[in-house]
Amino acid sequence: MNKTCSLRRLCNLHEYLIKQHRIIRYKSNTCNDLKSFVLYDKFICERRSQSKCSVLVQVSSENSISDLYSYCSKFGSIKNIFHYQLAGSNHFVLTEFEDQSAVNTLLDQSTHVKDSNVIAVRSPFLWFRSNASKKNSKLLSTNDKLNVPFQTNQTMIEPNIKNIGLEKFDSLSDQMLLLLKCTQLNDIGTRLRFLTAMQIENSLKGIFPLSKVLPFGSSVNSFGKIGSDIDLVLMDSEIKENKTSRLIYHGKCVSNSRTQIQRNIEILGDLLQLFLPGCSRVKRISQARVPIVKYSQDFVGVECDLAVSNETAVNMSELLYIFGNFDYRVRPLVFTIKMWAREINLTNDTPGRWITNFSLTLLVLFYLQQEKIIPDIQTLVKQASNSDVRITNEGINCTFLRDVSKLHKDVENKKTLDQLLLGFFEYFASFDFNTNAISLNFGKTINKPEYSALYIVNPLEVHFNVSKNISSEEMERFRIELRNAAWTMESSLLNTNSFNLLDLFKGFDVNKKNQIVFEIQHQIKNSNRLVTVKDLFDDSQTQEDKRLT
Ligand code: GTP
Ligand code: MG
Repeated sequence: MNKTCSLRRLCNLHEYLIKQHRIIRYKSNTCNDLKSFVLYDKFICERRSQSKCSVLVQVSSENSISDLYSYCSKFGSIKNIFHYQLAGSNHFVLTEFEDQSAVNTLLDQSTHVKDSNVIAVRSPFLWFRSNASKKNSKLLSTNDKLNVPFQTNQTMIEPNIKNIGLEKFDSLSDQMLLLLKCTQLNDIGTRLRFLTAMQIENSLKGIFPLSKVLPFGSSVNSFGKIGSDIDLVLMDSEIKENKTSRLIYHGKCVSNSRTQIQRNIEILGDLLQLFLPGCSRVKRISQARVPIVKYSQDFVGVECDLAVSNETAVNMSELLYIFGNFDYRVRPLVFTIKMWAREINLTNDTPGRWITNFSLTLLVLFYLQQEKIIPDIQTLVKQASNSDVRITNEGINCTFLRDVSKLHKDVENKKTLDQLLLGFFEYFASFDFNTNAISLNFGKTINKPEYSALYIVNPLEVHFNVSKNISSEEMERFRIELRNAAWTMESSLLNTNSFNLLDLFKGFDVNKKNQIVFEIQHQIKNSNRLVTVKDLFDDSQTQEDKRLT
């Protein structure tokens, strides 16, 4: 039946309601988004420099901060101080110096505690011994003593979405923006992620001077939230061969085979487990498609995945970063969809047969390509200049335009976030996942090259399916939830002209649905309206409802 047709009519009705009613449009000049665009390389470089100028110090309480500040000031000028507390009573102070030499001097003069069971390690993670002679002195007020920007009680734990005040906003678009603001990765979260990477990089410096450890994934792709895991990759900096030098380092010839990568993962696992402070619960997952070491960095309170030589993933992060910064609507929409999927248990922290945040992000981006809000990847590839050429060690071509501020951008689509949210659910609720594969490269669907419940072409390795892991059952659940979400939003908008984001996160309530259908039918009967919400549901949907009840 004409489900698409009714969806379209509902969409028109929704647009009409938006014009007529009280949904406040988010005022933003979308044309300006790219003017403030920061190149990914510049962003990474600045954050790495920041982490080289920083140390993380555990203190016994907030009262020690001013004492720590005056102690650290001896080593150089301090630029910023951040304080946070992790579960229990652990207080931490992230201290950023103006200059890296201050950190080097500070680390040179820091000491190790004598303990025959502990091997002395140099790392940016330290603790501050209380000064016995000052013990009885009056504690000074922290704010009085510090002459640098000081941010205390930084949020390290994702807030409960029920407590962020979503209900204070009538407009769904405003609620989506608030959700983004309250849950996105904050400044200290980003700083600590880069410091976590730097701890490993520094520990390997002596033997692997050209190695660097980079965060990738949601920590840097602009879609990260407070508390999301840290994905790290150990890779070589680009080697700039000095042709004039006559002395050349001997190297050891190793095969770049999977076995070698697996052995490297084992060794890194041992290093983290045996020597590096704060690294606990180390697990070596060397049999995975991308072998990793999983561990927990206790001083930062975050789970980490460390891979080796996964250059493509770094390029993927840059691609997502570009899209995330392309238009102000991209990130709030991705955050809302990811939150929706998490709250109704479509996604899960552990990998498995369910849809992942990465696949969900790609689905949102694909939908935004249909809306012509972001470009397809081919457009970025065509516009690439020589400086954008990147071929990874594995031979994967990751060439695309990096500086998208150069791209002529004339987005005519001025849809509001709430329209796009409903649009996303409607688009995929009626999407033919059985025959179509999703290609962000072309910005359109292609025939599925092979059977898979969901097929999203990997944007950088086009012969792979990003969502190969999803089982048919999980895909069916995803489709049902897409329809339910579209239905919940539409019925609420028809019924009350408003919609609360929290209602979306509650998931689907069959009893409530029956009640709403009844109410809407009643209203429609009285007002002679043409649209029926029940049109949305064909026979198969009714079957699904039966299963759910
Ligand atoms: P969250 O950690 O859930 O916030 O999102 P994330 O994007 O960081 O996802 P995740 O930690 O699972 O993966 C980290 C990065 O690895 C992603 O951003 C992708 O670049 C890459 N990645 C994840 N899953 C896949 C996959 O199935 N295929 C490919 N090719 N890359 C993936
Ligand atoms: Mg991640």
